[in-house]
Amino acid sequence: MNLPNMLEAKKRTKNKVSYIYDNIINNNTFKGLKYYIRTYGCQMNVHDSEEIKSLLESIGYIETNEMDDADLIILNTCAIRENAHDKVFGFLGRCKHLKKEKENLIIALCGCMAQEEGVVNEILKNHKYIDIVFGTHNINEFPKMLLNKTKNLNINVYSKEGEVIEIGNHYIRDSKYTAWVNIMYGCDKFCTYCIVPYTRGKQRSRKSKDILDEVNELINLGYKEITLLGQNVNAYGKDLENELDFSSLLELVAKTNIERIRFVTSHPWDFTDKMIDIIAKYDNIMPYIHLPLQSGSDRILKLMGRRYTKDEYIELYNKIKSKVKNVSITTDIIVGFPNETDEDFKETLDVVNTCKFDGAFTFIYSKRESTPAALMEDKVSLEEKESRLKTLNELVNKYSLENNKKYLNKTVKVLLLGISEKDNNKLYGYTDTMKLVNVLCNKDLIGTIQDVYITDTKSFSLDGIIKE
Ligand code: SAH
Ligand code: SF4
Ligand code: F3S
Repeated sequence: MNLPNMLEAKKRTKNKVSYIYDNIINNNTFKGLKYYIRTYGCQMNVHDSEEIKSLLESIGYIETNEMDDADLIILNTCAIRENAHDKVFGFLGRCKHLKKEKENLIIALCGCMAQEEGVVNEILKNHKYIDIVFGTHNINEFPKMLLNKTKNLNINVYSKEGEVIEIGNHYIRDSKYTAWVNIMYGCDKFCTYCIVPYTRGKQRSRKSKDILDEVNELINLGYKEITLLGQNVNAYGKDLENELDFSSLLELVAKTNIERIRFVTSHPWDFTDKMIDIIAKYDNIMPYIHLPLQSGSDRILKLMGRRYTKDEYIELYNKIKSKVKNVSITTDIIVGFPNETDEDFKETLDVVNTCKFDGAFTFIYSKRESTPAALMEDKVSLEEKESRLKTLNELVNKYSLENNKKYLNKTVKVLLLGISEKDNNKLYGYTDTMKLVNVLCNKDLIGTIQDVYITDTKSFSLDGIIKE
């Protein structure tokens, strides 16, 4: 974000960000200093990191990919599972070591873990070498905290979410072709295992006008694809008076003529017939839906507070499949929820066998402090949970491969995004249905949508060529 952009953002939105910048923008303190940011967790965090980068670069910082070069290291953390905690504190150990060699190094921790009281107490007790801690509700405070930094650890985490702050459409985005567009923050569902409603606060939808302004600006900037982002996108608008529902918002976004629209994540409970009809009606709404199942057992679904039964999920799944042409559907599944029995687990396998998902993110249940499930008795051993996960993954992979095989010798549209990590001679991109494709082609095609002929299929990706 450069200075004119910031000033424009300030004109357009009376917000906290502009207030902060009044103090910092004419200040050369940070000019040319380097920052290194490491992001854990979901797309929400990835997009928050884009906001953090925008804030830092507007005050003079430059990004580096080399941690050892950095004057400022930021860890944007995730709290969804317990092992995330171990990873972050492991990494902090390396930061502490670096700080011994580089006295002026600033270490900042933010994201969902910063919203956990236990983590903050642990930092206060054992990790005082960290300089700044801020939470998910006050990212905008970060520049001010840097400016006012003293030798002491500065923890500034808002426990309560505030109003939605518009920073204007001036994110520095990781991609020039695909962009995240937040449509809502937080979550009101309170699934009993999940920490997100505590770390991200209650649901706050952005105004549809602000969302559409952002989409139109992205079109002007040449973006090909946008992903509407929220923990529960199809509950959009329920917290605002006189606001559109998600289907109507989706329709308005489709009418802007952006080439590709995606959205994550949809909750089965909020999935309406109107939503299915709109997805089916517009060619620029991609036929790809991530529809978390979590469990196939009615008993466990009830304990999880998911608000649907196995049959209702399957009915919704079939309705989407029958109405949206060529749709691909992926899911999230948790194994080993407290006292999950073999019978419960078999119900989950049964849904996977019925739905034959295109893919699934699978997790072993992880106990999260202060969630209702943390109080539930759990006699299932970790070995048992690991063995269930293995069985589940084998089944999920079998169906992924089967679904991918249907693409062999077919021509599909692929948005090419960059050079493939596995093979520098290839580009990678995604089909409408969100299949990863590695394509042997000219590098000039990055950022374009091409007809790609699929020559090989694997469980997690496809290979293709551009057919003359
Ligand atoms: N809002 C999304 C999911 C957000 S978290 C939704 O409702 O679908 C992403 C996934 O992490 C969840 O779908 C769930 O499968 C998994 N998850 C959340 N809490 C978990 C926990 N305590 N243990 C294991 N997996 C968990
Ligand atoms: Fe967590 Fe449930 Fe909200 Fe998803 S819908 S973020 S799983 S509480
Ligand atoms: Fe993790 Fe927070 Fe996302 S807990 S999954 S980064 S909302």
